[in-house]
Amino acid sequence: MKAAIILLPGDGIGPEVTGAARSVLDRVAQMRGHEFSFTTHRIGGCSIDASGVALTKEVLESCARADAVLLGAVGGPKWDNPGAAVRPEQGLLALRKGLGLYANLRPVRPHARLLDASPIKPDHLKGVDLLVLRELTGGLYFGMPRGRDEVDGRLRAFDTMEYYEYEIRRILVLAFRLAGGRRKKVTSVDKANILETSRLWRATAADVARDFPGVTLENMLVDTAAMRLIAQPAGFDVLVTENMFGDILTDEASVLAGSMGLLPSASIGESGPGLYEPIHGSAPDIAGKGIANPVGAILSAALLLRHSLGLEAEAQAVERAVDRAIADGFRTADIRGSGSTEAVTGGVVERITFI
Ligand code: IPM
Ligand code: MG
Repeated sequence: MKAAIILLPGDGIGPEVTGAARSVLDRVAQMRGHEFSFTTHRIGGCSIDASGVALTKEVLESCARADAVLLGAVGGPKWDNPGAAVRPEQGLLALRKGLGLYANLRPVRPHARLLDASPIKPDHLKGVDLLVLRELTGGLYFGMPRGRDEVDGRLRAFDTMEYYEYEIRRILVLAFRLAGGRRKKVTSVDKANILETSRLWRATAADVARDFPGVTLENMLVDTAAMRLIAQPAGFDVLVTENMFGDILTDEASVLAGSMGLLPSASIGESGPGLYEPIHGSAPDIAGKGIANPVGAILSAALLLRHSLGLEAEAQAVERAVDRAIADGFRTADIRGSGSTEAVTGGVVERITFI
């Protein structure tokens, strides 16, 4: 098949890990006779430096016309002034919103050989295979009004957590669908004892659940979920939640896998291209050293093959190759190895096979 893929390497280690993911996609294309074309554009800090904004209209438009977008990471100390009018993160938010990517999928499955890389006891990690579904275009990140003003001479800042019922419904429907193909359990995470948006969320979850009699719904408060993710992580299948809750819980969940560097994500909308990115940041401290873990980006490329191109066999081949490479000792420093980005990528590329 033919596919047009946009690469947005971004900042810090972004270019190194997207380069690794591209090598993997090139190898898959070569082995299976696909034609993947790649176009590279700027996002984040490098875009601010070049054009004054974190994402230009032209780049957004070109992403909207592509089949899929693969992103590295954005941000770094150079642009980290909290008072700055433009910030690298705005590029990412504008891209998510601009492409209508309301669902962010973050699967977490600790590798059997890496159980010792996590600070959690290996016994707790057995059987952990969870999928966090984070709502991505609403909630506290996007609600209006937000800003600053002065009340009685005192400076005030405010953000708004806001949801339309349709936004809650569509992410819950997706959660139930995905759970149907897994272990058939949805944990809907909210703060319904305090927040009105959460009460609407919980009522909508109950309503959506009626259409999926084969899937069990469990409601959980976000503070309890934060505790259970560490205490009993194997009890989760699909976890679905508000934008900011999901942001926080997925960093926490990454500890189960042993390193942020291992985890991929897919962001999808009702139609149009999906966005694929590792969940780690730009890691400026190790940028340019050739030691970043490429696995999160490579597994994001696998999700791209699966969700945007419908190439399930290819996606599985990449996931198997990563499993084998890790088992064979291809590991970067974050998972107690000493391999370079290039060596680990090579280890994965060599292990891609089709049965
Ligand atoms: C993430 C990141 C982003 C977010 C930042 C970089 C804007 O933390 O993808 O989890 O908060 O969504
Ligand atoms: Mg985050």
